[in-house]
Amino acid sequence: MLAVHENRIADAVSRLGAENAFQVLARAREIEATGRRVVHMEIGEPDFDTPEHIKKAAVESMMAHDTHYTPSAGIVELRETIAEYASRLRKMPKAYTAANVTVSPGAKPIIWNILSAIINPGDDFIYFDPAYPAYGSASTYLQANVIRIPLLESRNWRMDLDELASRVSDKTKAVVINSPHNPTGGVLMREDLERIAELAHKHDFLVISDEIYSRNFYLDSDFVSIASLPGMQERTIIVDGFSKAYAMTGWRLGYAIMPEKLCQTVTLFNNNTFSCVATFVQKAGIAALTGPDEPVQKMNAIFRERRDRLVTGLNQIPGMSCTLPEGAFYAFPNVQQITQDDKALASFLLEEGGIACGGGSSFGPAGKGYLRFSYAASLDDIDYALAQIRDVLPRFKG
Ligand SMILES: Cc1ncc(COP(=O)(O)O)c(C=O)c1O
Repeated sequence: MLAVHENRIADAVSRLGAENAFQVLARAREIEATGRRVVHMEIGEPDFDTPEHIKKAAVESMMAHDTHYTPSAGIVELRETIAEYASRLRKMPKAYTAANVTVSPGAKPIIWNILSAIINPGDDFIYFDPAYPAYGSASTYLQANVIRIPLLESRNWRMDLDELASRVSDKTKAVVINSPHNPTGGVLMREDLERIAELAHKHDFLVISDEIYSRNFYLDSDFVSIASLPGMQERTIIVDGFSKAYAMTGWRLGYAIMPEKLCQTVTLFNNNTFSCVATFVQKAGIAALTGPDEPVQKMNAIFRERRDRLVTGLNQIPGMSCTLPEGAFYAFPNVQQITQDDKALASFLLEEGGIACGGGSSFGPAGKGYLRFSYAASLDDIDYALAQIRDVLPRFKG
């Protein structure tokens, strides 16, 4: 019976990838269910609670009967709020309007819908390596000609721009960038963005700029969006959302900002897939963007302290070395002196030490020989994790 169903699965499914962090999470929960302590550093989600005023706005909205379908692009009030917020945060030369914004249940589905709206089979589609797995999964599914540009540990995980320049051409449909970056915590500098913008103008490609970590930013300078550079607003699609900045991962609320015509096409995919986002969740989003900013700043100050503790500790472990992440909440230590098999090491640390983390190669070939630790864990958990790693590592047979 089961075999018949298996035979009916579409061939295209073999082109889909998956986010490994969710698989590690499932195994970590199994171990936890046996009563063992597990420190969760595998999944990219703030461990803080969603700020009170945001939850209150959702409850009030629900009690006011905001429980029906809404337009596929999102309610106008939220789209206007996002347009105003995004223009201010990014110091846009020309303010965005609601017509540039489309809202989704998390940023992940909007990435899928954006790629569906722009990729023809065989189009050159460029992203970096290692990367958040969604870009590779969707673009491979859509039969793009995928080109991966390595990020360089020696440049604190910024892109190899000479390599990018040699791989873009008039066949390039789009280049994805993600700064601050998952999984390395790297941040692209203004001069990197200027060079990418120059190439975009020269070869007429779109830039998809995943800025979901724009508020998880630890440099003293301001966050810079490529969309704000001269002539780039017309060719940039910004991806952003509420999961990371406001500790709202489970609410499922994200959005993208782009030129109006493209926005209508992406919204057509929203219409065909999830229809719309729950109204009370959208009202919570308005409260997040218009309410006090202190909770975001407080969470970031705590992330920064955890980052410093974790990175210092990782660098003291024989065989590991870790660059200082400048944004997001991930540390990406090099473990090549210990092993090339990062997934085996991640699995060993979970099974033997109760420390859940990700193998770098699940983010692409250039992640081989690295681990990803999310420092969305308390200082106490981080200290325990470091002690456990030091304790069990000598038994690892790489
Ligand atoms: C780079 C990046 N983009 C997008 C997302 C999607 O986030 P969400 O779907 O929760 O909005 C994530 C989540 O981990 C991410 O790391």
